[in-house]
Amino acid sequence: MKTYKVAVIGGDGIGPEVIAEGVKVLNAVAAIDGTFSFAFTQYPWGCEYYRKTGRMMAEDGMDQLAEHDAIFLGAVGAPGVPDHISLWDLLLTIRKGFDQYVNLRPVKLLNGAPCPLKDAAVEDIDMLFVRENSEGEYAGSGSWLYKGKPNEVVIQDGVFSRHGCERIIRYAFEVAQAQKRSLTSISKGNALNYSMVFWDQIFAEVSKEYPAVETHTYLVDAASMFMVKDPGRFQVVVTSNLFGDILTDLGAAIAGGMGLAAGANLNPERNFPSMFEPIHGSAPDIAGQQIANPLATVWSASQMLEFFGYQNWANRLIEIIEEILTEKKYLTPDLGGTATTGQVGDEVIRKLAEK
Ligand code: NAD
Ligand code: IPM
Ligand code: MN
Repeated sequence: MKTYKVAVIGGDGIGPEVIAEGVKVLNAVAAIDGTFSFAFTQYPWGCEYYRKTGRMMAEDGMDQLAEHDAIFLGAVGAPGVPDHISLWDLLLTIRKGFDQYVNLRPVKLLNGAPCPLKDAAVEDIDMLFVRENSEGEYAGSGSWLYKGKPNEVVIQDGVFSRHGCERIIRYAFEVAQAQKRSLTSISKGNALNYSMVFWDQIFAEVSKEYPAVETHTYLVDAASMFMVKDPGRFQVVVTSNLFGDILTDLGAAIAGGMGLAAGANLNPERNFPSMFEPIHGSAPDIAGQQIANPLATVWSASQMLEFFGYQNWANRLIEIIEEILTEKKYLTPDLGGTATTGQVGDEVIRKLAEK
């Protein structure tokens, strides 16, 4: 029997609450399937660990994680610990250290999910964001000069390498070609006269290798407007790290809310473990109350199953999420229900066992 070693980092706030449901669901899938299993290792890393040890993860944390087939992460960030420390020393360390340069974020309105756009039909909101996840605006390059002095200067560089741009754009073309869908590049070459001009140039270059893929390009400001006014324009979308971050929260808003938004951080070459996580944060405003929606995490679990080659199980989980959204019997408060986080997870498992 194949056993997948998965490192579990619940993290902070609602992270451990939602990830517990994801683990329950993955175990249930494996038990029903019978041909594979999961060996989960829980890591207590996050802001609590930081308060005790001064570190967000163990000193050899990346070596420990490297032993796994995947990482399942809840959320990171807690009041009292500066966000740039908690995120850079855990989440971003993993994304960068394991070269998870593809961040795949479906923005898909499932049957039964609430949508704030009047007149939008489910088929109008069916996008797959391919967010660059290793460099760009998140390169971490810059300087802080004359700190605290009147002439203080801060510089934050955007780093766009040919290698980095080509590989993410090529990945997006491969996905669009395989899915027979259009590919839209979102950038900002009118104002960002180096980085985004370069991005646009590479998009045009790579597109020549994929004559069968219909392409579109938008400036990010117009793209944000069209995501609300006419979301049906977008199918597969490729964009930079920061634009992808912002546009996928907008995407979450039009596709049922943060409680339904999933993401996969992939190292496509599989030289390192990939990481699966809901795209929402630790939601300190609702943490500890068992009211967080675990369905985004279940969707990320579906992405993990797909990555391991179990497309049928991946699809079944999405169907189950749709059933739950349509039946409206077990929904958390963000979706207008009164169910707890655990009850929603239990309902997913009950449905898995049903057929
Ligand atoms: P957030 O995503 O945590 O919360 C935004 C809003 O969405 C809140 O009102 C929250 O209650 C709601 N929400 C989020 N997830 C939900 C769920 N599963 N069910 C129901 N409601 C949900 O964003 P924020 O408040 O800007 O950030 C809080 C902390 O999380 C910060 O420290 C931030 O840096 C961190 N953060 C971490 C990640 C990550 O670990 N991947 C992602 C985003 C933000
Ligand atoms: C996300 C988050 C992270 C990001 C933060 C917490 C660093 O917002 O995964 O969307 O910006 O990538
Ligand atoms: Mn984000």
